[in-house]
This record gives sequence, C-alpha cells and structure tokens, in this order.
Amino acid sequence: MCGIVGYTGKESALSPVLEGLRRLEYRGYDSAGIALVVKKGDPLWLEKRAGKLGNLESILDSVPESHSGIGHTRWATHGGPTDVNAHPHVDNEGKLALIHNGIIENYVELKAMLTARGHIFKSETDTESVVHLLSDARKAHNGDLAAAMREVCGELRGSFTLLAVHSDEPGRIVGARRNSPLVVGVGDGENFLASDVSAFIAHTKRALELGQDEVVDITADSIVITDLAGTVLPHREYEISWDASAAERGGYAHFMLKEIYEQPKSIADTLIGRTAGLDASITAGIDLQGIEKVVIIGCGTAYNAGLVGKYAIEKWANISVDVELASEYRYREPSVDNKTLLIPISQSGETMDTLMAMRYAREKGARVFSVCNTNGSTIPRESDAVLYTHAGPEIAVASTKAFTAQLVAMYLLALHLGKVRGFISADLENEIERELTDLPGKVEQVLETVEPLRALTRQFKDATSVLFLGRHVGFPTALEGALKLKELAYMHAEGFAGGELKHGPIALIDQGTPVVAIMPTENSLLAEKMASNIQEVKARGAIIIAIADAPLASADHLIRIPKTHEFLQPVLAVVPLQVISYEMAIARGNDVDQPRNLAKSVTVE
Ligand code: AGP
Repeated sequence: MCGIVGYTGKESALSPVLEGLRRLEYRGYDSAGIALVVKKGDPLWLEKRAGKLGNLESILDSVPESHSGIGHTRWATHGGPTDVNAHPHVDNEGKLALIHNGIIENYVELKAMLTARGHIFKSETDTESVVHLLSDARKAHNGDLAAAMREVCGELRGSFTLLAVHSDEPGRIVGARRNSPLVVGVGDGENFLASDVSAFIAHTKRALELGQDEVVDITADSIVITDLAGTVLPHREYEISWDASAAERGGYAHFMLKEIYEQPKSIADTLIGRTAGLDASITAGIDLQGIEKVVIIGCGTAYNAGLVGKYAIEKWANISVDVELASEYRYREPSVDNKTLLIPISQSGETMDTLMAMRYAREKGARVFSVCNTNGSTIPRESDAVLYTHAGPEIAVASTKAFTAQLVAMYLLALHLGKVRGFISADLENEIERELTDLPGKVEQVLETVEPLRALTRQFKDATSVLFLGRHVGFPTALEGALKLKELAYMHAEGFAGGELKHGPIALIDQGTPVVAIMPTENSLLAEKMASNIQEVKARGAIIIAIADAPLASADHLIRIPKTHEFLQPVLAVVPLQVISYEMAIARGNDVDQPRNLAKSVTVE
C-alpha cells in the first residue's frame, strides 16, 4: 500500500501535495517523493528520499513555483526503500513522471522489452517499467497523455493506481486504477487525485468515484473520466461524510477494524503471481536441495503463524519442522548446520528476538528464507531469500491482516518445498492452489456475518478468564485467539489443544466459563474428538462459543465459517476471533490501536 496524491489548481502545488502525503503517510512510510511541473517543456522539478516524509521535507528549500504536481509515500514491494527506488519515477528526458500503488506482475518482461528499445533503468522497482512504457505510448499518441495511459493500462497485469504528469502540459494530471484505490477531489478552480479522501478532505468534501480500468484526466477546471476504450463516462459524485482523522482510517473507527476488513485484499495481494509457484525472483538466492530439517522462528502472532506452517510443511514437503519461540531459541544453543532451513517470520522485520535468533542460526550455517511484511527491513536484508507478504502497512499494534498474510505465505512456502523435494502430488497441489485462490472471497463472506459478535462479546466482557480450544491447525488458531484477547481486552485468556484439557486445564472450568472452540473441518476424525472435548467442558458448566464450518448442536453460540481445505481453515477461523477481541476491547474501554504496555515492533530483546 502506498500513498498517492495529485494536485492541479490556483494554489502553489507543493503545499497541498505535501499536506496530502502527511495524511496518507500511514499507508506507507519507507520513502517519499514529489514531482512538480514548473515550466512548459522543461524537465520536471523532482525530489525523493528514503525514510519518512520528514526526510524529504527537510531538504525542500527554494522549491520553484508550480500549479500541478504529484507526490508518493511508499510501502516498498519491489526494490528496497532507497532514494533511487522512491517514487516518482521519470522517463529518460526527465519530463514525464509517474507514481504507482500496487504490483505490476509483468514488469520483468516489460523491462526487458523497454531496455531493448534503449530505455535506461535506474531503479529495482516494477513501477519504472510503466513510466518508460508510458513515454513510448505518449509519443505514439502525439503527446496525448490520457490516450497513452489508456493504452498502457491495457498492457499491464496486476494491480495499480497510476498518476502521471508531463512538462509539456502544465496543469494536467492523468490517472488510472485497477484493484487499487484512486479517488477524485472536486475543488473550486482546483482538483485533486488521491489514494483516499483523507489527502484532500481539508479542501473539499466533493469526491468522484473511479471504477476498475478507468482513466481520469484533470486540470484545474476540468475532469474527464473514460474507460480504456476512450468512452467518456458520467461522473459519480458523492459527499464525503467523514472528518479528517476518520478519513485516515478509511472511515473505520480504528485502524485495527480497517485492517481486519482489509484481509480479503491483503490475502489476494500476497497471492498475486504466486499460486502457480514461487518464481526465481523470490527463490534464486537460496538452495533448497539437501535440506534435512526446517526450523521456524518468530514471536507472538508470528510464532502462531509458524505453528500453522509446521503442519503444512510436514504434510506437503515430508520434512521435520520445529517451531521455536525466537526469544528462547538461541539460548538453548541448538544444533544447527547447513542442512537446516531457518524460516524467520516477522511483520516488521525488526523484532530483535527474531533477528538475534536468525543471526545465531546463520552463523552456524543455516540457510535462511524469511517471511516478512516490510520490504528492505533488517531480517529480509540478512536472509538468503524472502517471501514478502503484501499486507501493506499494519498500523494497529494487534496484528490481524499480517497474520493471515503470514499463513498464506507459509502455505505457499510449503507448496514450494513440496515441489522442490518432489513429494507433493499434482492433485493435492492443484487442490491447495484452488482453495488459496478462493480464500479472499471466503474471508469476505466471514466478514459479512460478524455483526452479531458485538452483542455476543458484551455478554462476556466481565469474564475473569476465557479459554480457547483447537485441534491440529485449530490449536495455533486457539493460541492466536487467546493472544488477541490478552493484548486487547487485558483479560486472562489461554489457548489449549483440545485433547490436552483433560490433563489438567479442565480444572479451570467453572459455571459459566466462556470456552471458544475452533472446530476442525466437518466429518473429520478430529471434529468428532473436538465434539467430545466440548461435551467434557459443557458438562462442567462452560458456555460454548463454537467456530465451525457445519452445524453444531452442542454450541451455545455458533459462528459459521465457509468450508475450505482443513489446513487453510485458520485463515477463516481467526477472523471472528479478531473481531471478538476488537469488540471486547471496545466494551472494556481500552485503546484498541495502541493497547497498554505494547509496541508495534519490539526492537529490544
Ligand atoms: C501481535 O498482535 C503482536 N503485535 C505481537 O505478538 C507481534 O506479533 C510480535 O511482536 C512479532 O512482531 P513481528 O511480526 O513484527 O516480528
């Protein structure tokens, strides 16, 4: 996710563009840049810097007067957070600038074609291929930037929001979108383009929607929207009802709720171009032949994702997997060698416990394939290979969309290892790939049914303890559900393997104890065993809140989720748990996005 802003109008463009970037910085903050159209036909004014927006602002002195420009805050996907990789990207004349949010799947082949045409590339990004393609298309359309944009959109695969300016046309900005947000702000003698309304809400509450594969062409006094065939489309105007701060959260009350609802997209983005296998751009740096052991390390939610990954890797790749709490791992001085594949999982890529454990294993010869959500952070930089999750920036301290994206990454890694080791059958591989592709839609279905959880949660807001039960991959899901409740509601909560209850923890059950049971997939052997576990606790007074893909008479409250492959079920089952913990935090008057005592990235041991 990146922040995109464009301004054209009577004001000096620098101020509204900078202000827009400040309001969008939550969408991405590893680098930022601005391009301004100053004088007709001259090269654009361009400044961009790695790091937070403040780094860019600190060097902005004596900026020339301009009335149209574009700005970008980056959440890196392809190419680390450096000055060169920061947006905007420009053509070789420096007169055409482009900014992009999304993932261009076919950038490698485009880059090869454009290099052969003589274009000189400076960055490692997918975006730079687009600006050179647009430059050629603009020449082919006799300088018509909108016509060129329409042609280029037809050649791109993947997701994108694009904005472009050319110095031959001061005051004109052309944009386009596919599977990535872009909205028009309608001003008086000025117009705006942005990823979301928070960028311009201080200037106007009039906005225009843009649909899939639509191109928008704006000046200070005109807005033309077309489809890719060039047909002019009617304006779909609406009044923005949010205030500025709510707008930064996309209208949601909290970032956590926004991120819970972003999961269909973050899962889809993490899957883009990968369901048929991991390509060499991801795996080239690591030799996976001859691996004899896999060790997954992580902390908190990332550790729980690793526990799910264990089941998939062991089953699909037929290799032993240990999952280790990173903070404990290196102090055991475990046996590690170059036949060990270490998989650090980390949203931030900066968690010190995970980083130090990784360094320990690396020094002993382990091969390192990390799973990370933050491009260019320390853990991926010190890995042999990295599978980035494309969940976008996760602002809320409690991890939600990063967790489900980590699960998806583990499944993709397990499939890849299964293929490399020649173990997974083509039928099973195809089945899993099909089910992965269906996950975003199934998460959407779950999100459409969570409204009743608000009332249900309030029934238990004064409980002294909540237990979570799960079996197989449902056990790590139970651990994650308990962790969410602990960190958000400040309640005692504990996750158990269903079969473990009778070996002690069942003594915790009292009259009215809430027990959340994650049911294994219908008709599985473990579903029957979990049903027995439920009877055991019910008989002792527990109240059962069950998450299941089938009816369950023994549940006092049943939360239904769609069916999926048994190993993928945690992606669906965790969503109600996230919502329950969110609602419990609200009910108990807690700070949802910044719970007490916690930090988003724990960079101390
Ligand atoms: C999860 O909700 C917490 N924020 C915490 O457990 C987190 O998952 C853990 O600190 C690991 O962080 P990382 O993924 O950035 O390494």
